[in-house]
Amino acid sequence: MKSILILGIESSCDETATALYDSEKGLIAHNIFSQIDLHKQYGGVVPELASRDHIKKLLPLIDSLIKENRLDLTDLDAIAYTSGPGLSGALLVGSVVANGLAYSLGIPSIPVHHMEAHLLAPLLEHNQTAMPFVALLVSGGHTLLIKVEQIGDYQLIGQTLDDAAGEAFDKAAKLLGLDYPGGPAIAKLAQSGKEGIFEFPKPLTKKKDSLDFSFSGLKTSLLYKVQELESKNLLSEQTKADLAHAYEDAIVDTLIEKSRRAIQFAKVNSIVIAGGVGANTKLREKMKDLFSKKGIEVVYPSIEYCTDNAAMIALTGLYNLKEGISNDSYEINVNPRWSIDSIYNSHG
Ligand code: KG4
Ligand code: ZN
Repeated sequence: MKSILILGIESSCDETATALYDSEKGLIAHNIFSQIDLHKQYGGVVPELASRDHIKKLLPLIDSLIKENRLDLTDLDAIAYTSGPGLSGALLVGSVVANGLAYSLGIPSIPVHHMEAHLLAPLLEHNQTAMPFVALLVSGGHTLLIKVEQIGDYQLIGQTLDDAAGEAFDKAAKLLGLDYPGGPAIAKLAQSGKEGIFEFPKPLTKKKDSLDFSFSGLKTSLLYKVQELESKNLLSEQTKADLAHAYEDAIVDTLIEKSRRAIQFAKVNSIVIAGGVGANTKLREKMKDLFSKKGIEVVYPSIEYCTDNAAMIALTGLYNLKEGISNDSYEINVNPRWSIDSIYNSHG
């Protein structure tokens, strides 16, 4: 049987990315342009600037990906793109390019749910991951615990009631005067912070059976602490590092405790961690340490596949295509608030 070559396009937020995935050979290549420098001065992503930059970068990225791999656009069998959730203007750029190109080439265009793609990202490298598994999906907009029975068969077992874990990192970084994105900035500062100087509440870990998260109280505790220290003129660089250390610990320990409960609840032996916060070294190390002692397999994508990328979009597009999911009308549709619920059992 002839293999299927898919072009993946990601443009849901502040990364423009493209990838080539072959059904037989796996990932051929991928590239990415990060807009971090563009948004840094504003302390967060500015949607209009994001869309305009996707317009500038997307076609050149596709062009170089195709050329560097000595291919031609006519070699493509399908084009997969993120159609939600995300920033509407940013998503539209990906949708216009994917649908326009697919229409002109006479090949299917495949809408992909960004969070399902994060969920399947570990399969780019670990296609032997034992199913069923629990996935902890932690990004800038989501904090979810999902039981994955098999590809396309998902059960939501826990989620955040307010802020996402990445958002908690980003807001804390802003409070401490650090650069965007906040996760890596807090993690870096935390390294020079001392243990035990501050302690923040670990949200909802005391409610024994809960698999849900709540991070907004944690952010408020930090705000009050920063205001108190500032009013006493005690907010030195070392104090900021000590605060970052305790704050990172509170988030990491909460994610680990809820994951432990989820594994028990779902009766599985593997956990997959995906999404931008999954790039956090403390989380990766502590989780692996604790769970491997209990005989639990801990699977992470490499850092490059944890944060936004198009390789995971192309891979998920392939699964969608096999299930007959495609945008037959080539309509330029996006789904900025696409709920994760709607993908459950979507392939089943
Ligand atoms: O999945 P992602 O790249 O984009 C979406 O939100 O879909 O996740 C971005 C989030 C940001 O909130 C960022 O601060 C966080 O992931 N992040 C981290 C780290 N690297 C990225 N959080 C903690 N530690 C990190 N090393
Ligand atoms: Zn993402």
